[in-house]
Amino acid sequence: MRAPEILVFDSGVGGLSVAGCIRRQIPGAHLTYLADNACFPYGDQPEELVSARCVSLVQQARRYHPVDVVVIACNTASTVVLPSLRTATDIPVVGVVPAIKPAAGLSQNGRIGLLATPATVKRAYLEQLVSEFAADCIVERVGHPDLVRWIEAWVAGASLPEAQLSAALEPFKAASVDTVVLGCTHYPLILDTLKNLLPDVRYWIDSGEAIARRTVHLLAEDGFGSETVLSGAALQEVWFTGEVPTGIEGYLEKVGLPAARIVGHWPETKSSVVVG
Ligand code: DGL
Repeated sequence: MRAPEILVFDSGVGGLSVAGCIRRQIPGAHLTYLADNACFPYGDQPEELVSARCVSLVQQARRYHPVDVVVIACNTASTVVLPSLRTATDIPVVGVVPAIKPAAGLSQNGRIGLLATPATVKRAYLEQLVSEFAADCIVERVGHPDLVRWIEAWVAGASLPEAQLSAALEPFKAASVDTVVLGCTHYPLILDTLKNLLPDVRYWIDSGEAIARRTVHLLAEDGFGSETVLSGAALQEVWFTGEVPTGIEGYLEKVGLPAARIVGHWPETKSSVVVG
């Protein structure tokens, strides 16, 4: 049987944290990464725009590439787009939403920190998650307006403004949280820095591995057995709707995701993409 084709979608480079988990659990998959960086950050855009762009770009990607599963590796998009994307497409869709439920299960003191974009922190979907799974916990929310931009710049070689980041994390210290949910897929990329800044936090929750497990499960339901998922391929294509970010090739190598081809201004440049 052929290798499974997985499309991983985000507004920028954050979804690479999820792509890395998928790569480790499903090394035989053909991965295509699509970043809508022409519209980055999604947290600053109206919900309707995020939803419309995400549905339209995924549909366009499918015209140029086979896709067996699409992973929306963006909390900001997933918290608004999943129902319409599932209606618009006949392939399985995996979303990433803040891992409030596992956090409530792990926290020893019932104090949880949620670090996310300001948009995710305000979503009705988040309130539902908290009231359903963490009603008996204190959930301290920090919706940081700049952290995704800082991380994009850091991937391109800039330093992180650690003093400002540390100040932004003060509410977690004040609330004595023992568990922090990384509610944005950019944040696991700087987990080491976050751990240094919040040494008392015991549990750091990143949904990447759970998303990869869910993807394995959906592929198995679709008939992709272990022989097709366990050996071979790599990240095949990386498409950016805007400019290719500076230094991305080196960064992909560094995180174990070397790409066969990196394309900017997709889909205008789609004709240059080799369909596999
Ligand atoms: N990686 C996205 C997320 O998980 C970034 C958000 C944005 O573009 O604002 O939310």
